[in-house]
Amino acid sequence: MLGFATPARAATGEAVNPWVALAYLVSGVFFILALRGLSSPATSRTGNRFGMVGMLIAVVTTLVTHFPWITEQQAADLYAVRPDWASMYEILIAIGIGAVIGITIARRIAMTAMPELVAAFHSLVGLAAVLVGWAAYLNPGAFGLMVPMETIGTDYSLPMQIGAVSKVEMGLGIAIGAITFSGSVIAFLKLSGRMSGSPILLPARHIINLGTLAAIIVLTALFAMASPAETMPLIVALTVLAFLIGFLLIIPIGGADMPVVVSMLNSYSGWAAAAMGFTLGNTAMIITGALVGSSGAILSYIMCRAMNRSFISVIAGGFGADDSAGTGGEAKEQRPYKQGSAADAAFMLEQAEKVIIIPGYGMAVAQAQHALREMADILEEKGVEVKYAIHPVAGRMPGHMNVLLAEAQVPYENVFELEDINSEFAQADVAFIIGANDVVNPAAKTDKSSPIYGMPVFDVDKAKQVFFIKRSMGGVGYAGVDNDVFYMDQTMMLLSDAKKMVEEIVKALD
Ligand code: TAP
Repeated sequence: MLGFATPARAATGEAVNPWVALAYLVSGVFFILALRGLSSPATSRTGNRFGMVGMLIAVVTTLVTHFPWITEQQAADLYAVRPDWASMYEILIAIGIGAVIGITIARRIAMTAMPELVAAFHSLVGLAAVLVGWAAYLNPGAFGLMVPMETIGTDYSLPMQIGAVSKVEMGLGIAIGAITFSGSVIAFLKLSGRMSGSPILLPARHIINLGTLAAIIVLTALFAMASPAETMPLIVALTVLAFLIGFLLIIPIGGADMPVVVSMLNSYSGWAAAAMGFTLGNTAMIITGALVGSSGAILSYIMCRAMNRSFISVIAGGFGADDSAGTGGEAKEQRPYKQGSAADAAFMLEQAEKVIIIPGYGMAVAQAQHALREMADILEEKGVEVKYAIHPVAGRMPGHMNVLLAEAQVPYENVFELEDINSEFAQADVAFIIGANDVVNPAAKTDKSSPIYGMPVFDVDKAKQVFFIKRSMGGVGYAGVDNDVFYMDQTMMLLSDAKKMVEEIVKALD
């Protein structure tokens, strides 16, 4: 196990190499620039590159500084315990295997499967934090965590034990990591449809959750104060309870609240990485973990505001929980609706002065963004004003629609957020809904029993005409509820795969 022995180095008076500190600082600056870049689709590629450069600097610095300079013998002399380090070859082989798996997944993954992939990756960060914590506990010498038992000082001939501060860091790292791991596994199973998306509500769940959290805090304190012989049962109990609470926190969350959960787990994975950074004495990990942790928390908060949800209610679990919520519901009643063809739609679009396009998850499934852009280009050539309206939770991940529209090179100035465009539906001739459903469902405004009640939605009913592309009347949106927009007088249902329908409209327009 690789040892980054800051506490013991500090104890022995070894200063942190200023070049290492500088390199980590530079990588931190790159990570901040990356977050800045990722805040807009126009700059997101540059942001990604900044992140890659920052990570490269951090990894290379860590490898270079910890290997050639200290031999196992020197470390053994320094920390009075022979560390059991992985060799550079073993580390490079592990990096190689990870890189091959990462590249393969990144190339193969469908855009629509990103949320579950993100959840799966978060689970790995959580598991890594648990393993680092346990490795440090079992082999503290390799991590430079040993301090003299009796005297605080530099007399290393005295019996040694893990320092209390290190044990608190270890306990927190293991707890946050285990919560992230089991929570992310449940989120992965729910998002990928391997487990029902409906909330599973245990009786007295809030009391059970609070009790388990309190027990974890108490166990961490006891672990920090315990003598070496007493620590093992405490750290085992702490780990088991933390795995359990991650599971308990996520199973009651269902339906429309899952996006918030994914970004909240993102935040947890950041804090788990920061805790690992403390255990390893690695500044770059602390900085990166804190950046991921706080940006994930801010994103969760923004999403809660966008969905008119209380942040606390969502993370406490089971908000808006209702057995009808989830992915598997059916539209219940058969009501009359109007159906049209691509030719009808093309004819009316040509007559329009203003068209607002509302893309949703179905556009991503159908990969209809390129055909859509072609349609918009033709309409603009014909003098029609075309705007795109993006809901903060349209699709299955934050920024999902923005990414797809950017891929189709839709000009950014034509893309508008919910609050900036919602008032314009009253002047629109056509609201063109393509593969969206929940984000235009008026039940969110009117039906208190609906799982999406309280989420702000587009006021498409104010447009003169509404075109609604979906494959069938039976299919429902993510929250699994029927939508009154299908049955409005001014609505024309265009029942087809989104890409096929838009391609036919383009042909008819030509
Ligand atoms: P949804 O409400 O999920 O509706 C998707 C619509 O697309 C359905 O009406 C579906 O009907 C249609 N569709 C599916 N495949 C299609 C295809 N190939 N061609 C044409 N239509 C197709 O989508 P939305 O309005 O974007 O809402 C997003 C929902 O997902 C919200 O409830 C949100 O909370 C949730 N969610 C969001 C995120 C993030 S962060 N964005 C993450 C997880 C969950 P048919 O089956 O009849 O075609």
